[in-house]
Amino acid sequence: MSKKVVIINAGPRKNMNTDTLLQYAKEGVLESNHDVIYYDLYRLEKYTGCISCFSCKKEKLKGSCIVKDGLHQVLQDIKTADGLIIGTPNYFGDVTSAFRALYERLVFPYLTYNAAKPNCNDKRIKVLLLMTSNAQEGYYASLMENYQRVFERFIGDTKVYLCGNTKQVKDYSKLDWEWTYFDIPEKERRHEEVFPKQCLEVKELGRTLLEE
Ligand SMILES: Cc1cc2nc3c(=O)[nH]c(=O)nc-3n(C[C@H](O)[C@H](O)[C@H](O)COP(=O)(O)O)c2cc1C
Repeated sequence: MSKKVVIINAGPRKNMNTDTLLQYAKEGVLESNHDVIYYDLYRLEKYTGCISCFSCKKEKLKGSCIVKDGLHQVLQDIKTADGLIIGTPNYFGDVTSAFRALYERLVFPYLTYNAAKPNCNDKRIKVLLLMTSNAQEGYYASLMENYQRVFERFIGDTKVYLCGNTKQVKDYSKLDWEWTYFDIPEKERRHEEVFPKQCLEVKELGRTLLEE
């Protein structure tokens, strides 16, 4: 029976690094004959992070976020999914604000504050978190380990994939001034030689996401 994977682009740009990796992940999932629902968080109706209403701490609503904004359907789809893939660019040493809003709304409802059963999510799903960044791969490994730990605890088995030293703009020859922070020829080279391999690695992670 086919299963469902929700893929979420928590970056604002289409067809750039994060979205491209996620499109490969999608191809991989489809190759394994599972269904995909793809969301661009920056193209949803208006939404916020957790508004601290604590409705999810009421017995009747336990585990669910009642806020009916742009994230509502995304959260509903994650609840019935078998897998979840979220990609985010690194913004100022962390995930994007869009990822963060989703993260708050996804995880907080499962936190019971009850020591005997701190997590009320009984349906574990497979998770893949992707991060792209200017910094080299590995630079944000410990940051993402922190997210990985929380996803492992509340959502399910979680893998992390890091893609560093990405190309920031499509055409560096159009810059208005020199960006001397970066080795631009090296960025171009990596984009030509390394990024395509990373796309294939992510495709494979998508293809095998739901395997035991
Ligand atoms: C607002 C903003 C802040 C950023 N901060 C960082 C940062 O702190 N560290 C880093 O390595 N890259 C940083 N970057 C670079 C992006 O993470 C990187 O270019 C990423 O691959 C962009 O993803 P995209 O092509 O999918 O938009 C930043 C980019 C933007 C726009």
